[in-house]
Amino acid sequence: MKRPPPDYERRAIEHIQPIRQFFLANVLHHSLQLGVFAALAEEPGTDTISLAYRLGLDARRLGALLTYLENENYVLDDEGWTLTGKGRGLPTFAPWYQMLVGGYGITFQQLSDVLRAGAGYADRDTLQVGAGSCGIGVTDTLPLALHLLDTAGTDPSTLVDLGCGDGAFLIEILDRRPGLRGIGVEPNPASVERALELRTEHGLTERLDFVTATAADVAKLDLPDGGRGTAFMTAFVLQEMLEQDGEQAVLDLLTATFDAFPSTRWVVVEMDHQPTSPLMGTHGMAQAFYNPYFLIHTITEQRLETGDWWSRLFTRAGLTATRATTDPRVDSTGFEIGFLLARP
Ligand SMILES: C[S@@+](CC[C@H](N)C(=O)[O-])C[C@H]1O[C@@H](n2cnc3c(N)ncnc32)[C@H](O)[C@@H]1O
Repeated sequence: MKRPPPDYERRAIEHIQPIRQFFLANVLHHSLQLGVFAALAEEPGTDTISLAYRLGLDARRLGALLTYLENENYVLDDEGWTLTGKGRGLPTFAPWYQMLVGGYGITFQQLSDVLRAGAGYADRDTLQVGAGSCGIGVTDTLPLALHLLDTAGTDPSTLVDLGCGDGAFLIEILDRRPGLRGIGVEPNPASVERALELRTEHGLTERLDFVTATAADVAKLDLPDGGRGTAFMTAFVLQEMLEQDGEQAVLDLLTATFDAFPSTRWVVVEMDHQPTSPLMGTHGMAQAFYNPYFLIHTITEQRLETGDWWSRLFTRAGLTATRATTDPRVDSTGFEIGFLLARP
């Protein structure tokens, strides 16, 4: 029998690392969603049977999951299960798993199919995408959006968040701006259902409404004071509309809204589409997040454009667009961009 090459195992280990990360990402996502990390943070030293009982899980299978996580250094069995330092650090980043694994896991299962000539779009779980996106946004997008709103100096009394996902992002804004009212507009009914639950949990039923509609339905909204004092926001939503309805539809929406409310302000957040930037091969955040993100948007029903492309579109709509980017301590690529739109 032919002897295996002497470096076979070393090469196999190297080449199957992506498979290890693929499985690990899935296990972490499900463990976070099932509450395994939260339960262990709350009650360290718990045994498998008690943990399974608490979470309504099968004890034998949960035991296998915990052993897997121990081998990846997220938990430790020390007369009961506890989180390691790595395990304690993970939940901060749960929304990344919710968006990319929960929301887009299905997308990548369809990669071969959608790459064929003439194929349609890949699917995604819109509820998970929207919820994960809102969760990530609390750290990067929220300060950017608030900074732009404050720059406006108009002190709006109502903020309309078009394409609000599960509303978590808008809720965070209202928590930080006690005088502000919110209206979340979202076409995905499951996201609106979740948004209504979150609204109750946060005690915001008096200040926050949700409408099941698309951004293009903005003219049909019943705005307080006939829209005086209303500002608008779209975070990662014009990219959706652009692919669904085309460039002219985005222009028409902006023009019609500013025609109706000439002194309003509109905060736009998008990603600067830079898949060939030198950063993509060298920057940790570009490699870990933006590389898959840019690919995902080419195969699902969304269209990313560069920041300069968006600036030109806003100029064509007769608007000024003050541009800003994320705090570099959170994301130093500069790929996340915000615009404050106004009619001069
Ligand atoms: C990536 S999520 C962004 C969620 C949230 N705005 C955020 O900042 O994280 C995109 C959301 O836009 C919604 N959406 C898709 N098409 C839309 C349209 N034509 N008008 C308004 N929202 C739309 C999706 O259902 C989804 O909830």
